[in-house]
Parts: sequence; C-alpha cells; structure tokens
Amino acid sequence: MSTPAPHSTADSVIRFYYRGEIHTVDQAAPTRTILQHLREDLHCTGSKEGCAEGDCGACTVVIGEQGPDGVTLKSVNSCIQFLPTLDGKALYTVEDLKQDSGALHPVQQAMVECHGSQCGFCTPGFVMSLWDLYLKHDGSQAPACGSAGAGACQPLQRKEIDIALSGNLCRCTGYRPIIDAAHRMGELPAVGFDRQALQQALQPLQRDDTFVYKHDGQTFYAPRTLAQLVEVRAANPAARILAGSTDVGLWVTKQMRDLGDIIYLGQVSELNAVAMREGQLEIGAGVTLNDAYAEICKHYPELSEMWQRFASLPIRNAGTLGGNVANGSPIGDSPPWLIALGAQVVLRGPAGQRVMPLEALYLDYMKKDMQADEFVEAVRIPLPHAGQRFRTYKLAKRFDQDISAVCAAFSVTLDGHKISDIRIAFGGMAATPKRAALTEAALRGRAWSESVLENAVALMTDDYKPLSDMRASSEYRMKTSQNLLRRFWLETRVDAPLRSDQVNPFVCA
Ligand SMILES: Cc1cc2nc3c(=O)[nH]c(=O)nc-3n(C[C@H](O)[C@H](O)[C@H](O)COP(=O)(O)OP(=O)(O)OC[C@H]3O[C@@H](n4cnc5c(N)ncnc54)[C@H](O)[C@@H]3O)c2cc1C
Ligand code: FES
Ligand code: FES
Repeated sequence: MSTPAPHSTADSVIRFYYRGEIHTVDQAAPTRTILQHLREDLHCTGSKEGCAEGDCGACTVVIGEQGPDGVTLKSVNSCIQFLPTLDGKALYTVEDLKQDSGALHPVQQAMVECHGSQCGFCTPGFVMSLWDLYLKHDGSQAPACGSAGAGACQPLQRKEIDIALSGNLCRCTGYRPIIDAAHRMGELPAVGFDRQALQQALQPLQRDDTFVYKHDGQTFYAPRTLAQLVEVRAANPAARILAGSTDVGLWVTKQMRDLGDIIYLGQVSELNAVAMREGQLEIGAGVTLNDAYAEICKHYPELSEMWQRFASLPIRNAGTLGGNVANGSPIGDSPPWLIALGAQVVLRGPAGQRVMPLEALYLDYMKKDMQADEFVEAVRIPLPHAGQRFRTYKLAKRFDQDISAVCAAFSVTLDGHKISDIRIAFGGMAATPKRAALTEAALRGRAWSESVLENAVALMTDDYKPLSDMRASSEYRMKTSQNLLRRFWLETRVDAPLRSDQVNPFVCA
C-alpha cells in the first residue's frame, strides 16, 4: 500500500520531451526501462539491447535536463534507467541525429567515412557516446572551447575520446576506425545544438511538487525538495530509494526483483548541490559520480585515476556518490578513499540530521546504521592538510568498466619523518569497507621508514581475512594488499615528492 505524498502533483502521467514534442506515458510499470519503452512501445529500435546491465553501451541514449545553470546533456545506459525518471527531461536516440535536410550528423558521417561500423550492433551506442562528446565541444557546454562549432575547436585529445567511449564495447572493428571517426567528426562542417530551444521546451515540464506516478498498485514518487523527500520517506519507509539506478536497475533487469514503491532522488534540488561547509567539501547524495569526482579531484588530484576507472562515463553520468556510499557494497570504489580521508556521512530522517564517520555506517555485510525512514543526504570530505600524503589504488582485470578485486586507500600525515596520523581502508578485503586498525596502530607515532612499514605489513593478516571468489583468491587479495601498502610507502616516503606525477593532467586540468 502506498501513502499519498504531501504536496503531490495530481496527474499520474510521465511527461518528457521527445522528437520535438511532449511525450506522455500513463500505462507503463514504474520499472519499465527507457530501452523497453523505446523498442517495444514506440518501435524505435535504433538503440539496442546487448547486456541489459549497463556494461556494453549498445543502448546508450542522451538525456537532457534543466539544471541550475541551464540545460545539461549526458549519455546514459537506457537499459537500466526506469521510464518515470525521464519526467521533465528530454530524450535523444540515434534516430534523432539526422539533420532536417536529411544529411547525416557529422558524428554519423565520420563513422561512415572511417568504416567505424561492421555488424552495426554497437554502432547506435557509439554514435550517441560520440554525440555526447561532440556536444561538449560545440561551444555552449564547454565555454573554454570558445567556438560556435565543433569544427573550430581544438582537436580532441585521445584521452578524452577514450573516456567518452569507455562504456561502449565493439566485437568487430577493433576500435581504431571508431577512434578515427571521433577525430574526423570535428573536421566536418559543424552542426550546432540549440540549448535555448531545449530549455524553453523543458520549462513547462518542470514541477514544484512531488511527482506521483501510480501503476498497477505500485507508486513512483519524485519529490522536488528535501522537505518533501523527508515527508515522503517518513510516510513510505518500505519504499525503495532510487538514485542513479546503476545498482537498482540491475535488480530488475537481471534479478527480476519486484521493487515495490519507489522514491526517486534525482529531482531533489538540495541533494544535487556541492558546497564548502565548515572547511569541508560537502557533496549532496544526488550529485552524479562524474560531477562529484570532478569536484573532489580539484582538491585531491590523486583521485583522478580512480575517477576514470570507476565504471564508464554513462554509468558515472547517472550513478551518484550517495548511491555508492548508501549501497555499502564491500567492493564499492568510493568508500575506501572516503574513509581514508576521514569523510563523514550525513543522514537525514524525520528527527533531523545524523552525522557520523563513514566507517561507522557499515555494520556488517550490506547492513548499515541507517533507519528505515532515513536516507543519505550528503558526504562531507575534509580538505587536504599540511604533511598529508594520500593515494588510492584499484585492482581489477580491466582498466575501464570493471569491479575491483581489491580497492585500497591510504592517507598518512607526516611531521618530519614521524607519522602523526595514518588512515588505511580497503574494499574487497572484508564484508564491509574496513579500516586496517592494527596496521594503523603499528605505524602511528613511528618513523615512516621501511623497517616500521614491514612490521606493520605483517599485521594486515590480523586485520583482514578476505574471501576467495570469482574476482580473486584470498591469497591474491592479501598479497596484493600488502604490496599496495608497500607501494604507497615507496611513493610517499620522506624523500618522495609530496604529489607524484600520477596526477592525470587531462582529467584534472
Ligand atoms: C556497468 C556497471 C559498472 C559499475 N562499476 C562500478 C565501479 O567501477 N565501482 C563501483 O564502486 N561501483 C560500480 N558500479 C556500481 C554502481 O554504479 C555504484 O554503486 C553507484 O554509485 C550506485 O549509485 P546509484 O546512484 O546508481 O545508486 P542506485 O542504484 O540508485 O541505488 C543503490 C542503492 O543505494 C540506495 N540509495 C541510493 N541513494 C541513496 C540515498 N541517498 N540514501 C539512502 N539510500 C540510497 C538504493 O536504495 C540502493 O539500495 C557499477 C555498476 C554498473 C551497472
Ligand atoms: S544493453 Fe548493454 S549497456 Fe545497456
Ligand atoms: S560493429 Fe559489430 S559489434 Fe561493433
């Protein structure tokens, strides 16, 4: 049973901007995916289903939405995004790129000229990822580019192309022709995108009150403000919270789970904010992973490789830092470095805020110190301080789009040669993201020297008893974790530079 939301919008119709008009849906299950709607209801079959779990990119579409600074456009995986999350937004698929004259868009033309398509199954997804990249350089989304069209911009860097295509797999081409196409598209006569027109089209779709969509006994709530969210949550403590859907989407598409009622956080303005509060960086729980890592990397450029290695761009465009923290997976990539940096999690419920060190949130495997009527409101991250040296490392079988076997994070504060503080946290080594309390104790107050380090490394076997599973054996996990601590020492020993050349100049520039 669902409880009516306070301040709810009466009409239970999903409205979004599609193909130049407002498209409405009122007969779809709240967990019907955008891809299912496109292919099965609208018979718009350009977007393909390869994996239905956000891995292959064949379903990539671009979503436009109104933000505080104008409209934004982002590539996402339509196979794991639920249809009601589109309410108030715009949807673009590969079918929408052709120009009014009938000519192909430069992205498509470049793919043709460079032979970027063979069997063609992956092609619509690649085209949409490339279009997202193209839009970033059309002069209105990337003011630094300073031109009216992609053709006049600086040539794309290879790194930027790799990032844009990190969520697309191709079995045929070997990728080189697609990368050629990415370079080529900027050489063709530019085609602009009218963001102002999109903003005007989206304006009438914006709501002030909680959007309530009901179908077949299931209710989807999309509150607009923190106050509305608190009320909706308190009235529906059994409802499933949905943020970027990059975990939850798979529970439906792969596990066929019935989610019951859903509370969607994506439209809560306060959760989408980044702020400096009491000397800490506060990232709202609804901020996407890509935006969150971009902000945090300004202070901790050591995180730039993790930023790039976290899933793929379309997943980072949808998934949130709040979701990574709230999910509490022992192999999530953000909790270890957040814990090593001494981050706090801000929970909110009807009684107000509760703030705790992030490690205190994780009680046991997927068990958290969070009440049914609470949710994660934000994460607070201390800024770097004098003498601090910090690193995080991800061990996975592939560079992009892979889950960690082991994820390590270390933050040491040195006073001369002495360790005044050290925080070590690992993912993949226990049932929760966990600090290495005994190892830390053996280092704190001692010299940051090799002999002290080796003594502490030996204690890691008391801190952790890792499992063997399909990603790695217990022995591998322990051995590599010990070696990662050694690597951290090598990179940060007293005679090493404070910030190493590991900082990725492209991502953090
Ligand atoms: C292809 C693919 C690759 C991935 N790669 C990685 C990777 O490299 N590293 C990694 O760590 N993860 C990875 N993930 C997992 C996922 O992207 C992350 O865990 C992501 O941060 C989840 O955020 P979300 O906003 O999508 O959460 P959702 O899927 O919306 O929610 C996840 C869980 O958190 C709860 N929740 C979400 N927000 C809140 C909140 N504010 N308060 C309370 N509860 C909340 C939900 O109820 C649910 O239980 C990957 C997923 C996919 C599909
Ligand atoms: S179908 Fe593979 S990512 Fe969506
Ligand atoms: S062209 Fe066949 S999978 Fe890419």
